[in-house]
Amino acid sequence: MARTLEFRVNGTPRRIPAEPERPLLGVLRDELGLTGSKYGCGEGQCGACTVLIDGTATRSCVVRLGNVADREITTIEGLESDDGTLHPVQQAFLDCDALQCGYCTPGMIVASAALLAEEPEPTRERVVDALRRNVCRCGTYARILDAVALAAD
Ligand code: FES
Repeated sequence: MARTLEFRVNGTPRRIPAEPERPLLGVLRDELGLTGSKYGCGEGQCGACTVLIDGTATRSCVVRLGNVADREITTIEGLESDDGTLHPVQQAFLDCDALQCGYCTPGMIVASAALLAEEPEPTRERVVDALRRNVCRCGTYARILDAVALAAD
C-alpha cells in the first residue's frame, strides 16, 4: 500500500506517495526527473544506478524506497556545486575523456566521489578495487582510472 515517504534528495526535502517496496532508482528517474542515474541490470550487478545514501555509494535499483526514509540521497546531478562548478571527479572525467557511450559514467563518477571522500589519495590498486563492480561495456577502464587519479591530485 502506498505511503507518504520523506527523504532528502540533493539537499531538497521530498515527500513522495509511493509503495515502500518500490526501487529507489525508479522513483528518482520517473517521479523526480533525475535521469542521470541509469538502469542497467536492475539486479545490483552493474553499478550504473549508483547514488550516495548518507555518503555511501549504493545501488539504487536494489534499495527499497521504504529504507531511505529520513536519509540523504545524492545523485550525479547533486555532485556539482550550487554555482554550477563540477565536482572534481566530474571535471576529471571530462578532462581525461573517460567515457565512450557514457552509460556507466554517472555510476562510475558517484562511486569514485565516494571513494575520494573517504580516501583522498588512493593507490591505483585501491581505485581498481573500489570500482571493480562498476561495469563499462566500452572498456574505457584505463581512462576512468586516469580520471580518478587526476581528481585525487
Ligand atoms: Fe543497479 Fe545495475 S542497474 S546495479
